[in-house]
Amino acid sequence: MLDINFKNEEVLAPPIIGTSKSIERIRDLIDHTAGTGLNVLITGKSGVGKEIVAQNLYYKSERKNKPFIKVNCAALPEGLLESELFGFERGAFTGAERKKRGKFDLAHQGVIFLDEIGDMTLALQAKLLHVLQSGEFSPLGSEKEVRSDAWVIAATNQELEKKIKERLFREDLYYRLSTIKIHIPPLRNRPEDIPPLIDYFIEKYASQFNGKKISKPSRDAIEKLIEYNWPGNVRELQSLLQSSMVIGNWEAVVDDLYINDIPDVNSMSEQKGLDKALNVEILLDHIRQNSLTNESFSLKKIRKETMNIIDKKVISHVLNQTGWNRTKASKILKISYKALLYKISDLDIELPSSNR
Ligand SMILES: Nc1ncnc2c1ncn2[C@@H]1O[C@H](COP(=O)(O)OP(=O)(O)OP(=O)(O)O)[C@@H](O)[C@H]1O
Ligand SMILES: [Mg+2]
Repeated sequence: MLDINFKNEEVLAPPIIGTSKSIERIRDLIDHTAGTGLNVLITGKSGVGKEIVAQNLYYKSERKNKPFIKVNCAALPEGLLESELFGFERGAFTGAERKKRGKFDLAHQGVIFLDEIGDMTLALQAKLLHVLQSGEFSPLGSEKEVRSDAWVIAATNQELEKKIKERLFREDLYYRLSTIKIHIPPLRNRPEDIPPLIDYFIEKYASQFNGKKISKPSRDAIEKLIEYNWPGNVRELQSLLQSSMVIGNWEAVVDDLYINDIPDVNSMSEQKGLDKALNVEILLDHIRQNSLTNESFSLKKIRKETMNIIDKKVISHVLNQTGWNRTKASKILKISYKALLYKISDLDIELPSSNR
């Protein structure tokens, strides 16, 4: 768990790079929200930039000289998380030799960033709701209520609406947390952000390579990077750029990305059989009827959506065949284990209920 206690007034917000409409809207929303202290819920898949948005909210608010306390709600079991959040009195339980202040207390007048909020248990959700309603909480083993004026910013990569339907997340808590909602779309839905992000990361990491001359990717390599699916979003782009800068051969790194990413569907089916399986005519009908007048229509978009459908079907099939052995599945699919994990999360591939 990482606590960031920025106390330096000169520190600026880490820049949120991007020229897409979504990123521009998010920057506006941050500017409008930062002074309000209204609870914010940030959603989006892994690596899209939820934490950097939380940091920007903080730096742009008057609370920037007070603590920014991050709590990862997925990293600790329920009991430990409870004592992290609310603290405890000496002797509250065996081993509690000294009083410990909770994160809500430490974040008083600052920000408490509740990351991975979707993983919090229902019992703790009830306690959190109480803090949000009353602004008070009691440390474990204490009768007294402690006041906290912490600004609550929460984030999740899960679909909380779905969890609410499954009764795994409290609806009343959801509404409390999401007075302001900031959703960050996956990188593949905002390809115009890719070139400025590439420039930004190259400049940022160049300084780490002690003046070594860094070659920029060719036009062709940039085109390929724009076309790529980015299951790991900005974090994946960032680490790819770091490794490219070390290796110094953009073309090889970019080609590798494609080799590792695209499932070998051709070996699973003759082209004709694949056409049939895809129901190409139905797909074309759908395109003819619905999309031509739609402004967001583009070949690239259709291609990506279609690839996602194929990926999801092929990966689910292989996972079911291997009894959800992901190592085996990644070998059969000829993608890296990491790429498979990204795909499972990004495409929302779920373990069949009979296997849970
Ligand atoms: N728009 C952006 N501009 C600059 N850097 C970005 C942007 N989006 C993300 N990053 C960088 O990408 C990395 C991943 O972002 P971040 O940690 O905020 O993602 P996240 O949504 O919190 O991911 P996770 O769900 O896995 O925790 C960070 O190093 C962050 O600084
Ligand atoms: Mg995060």
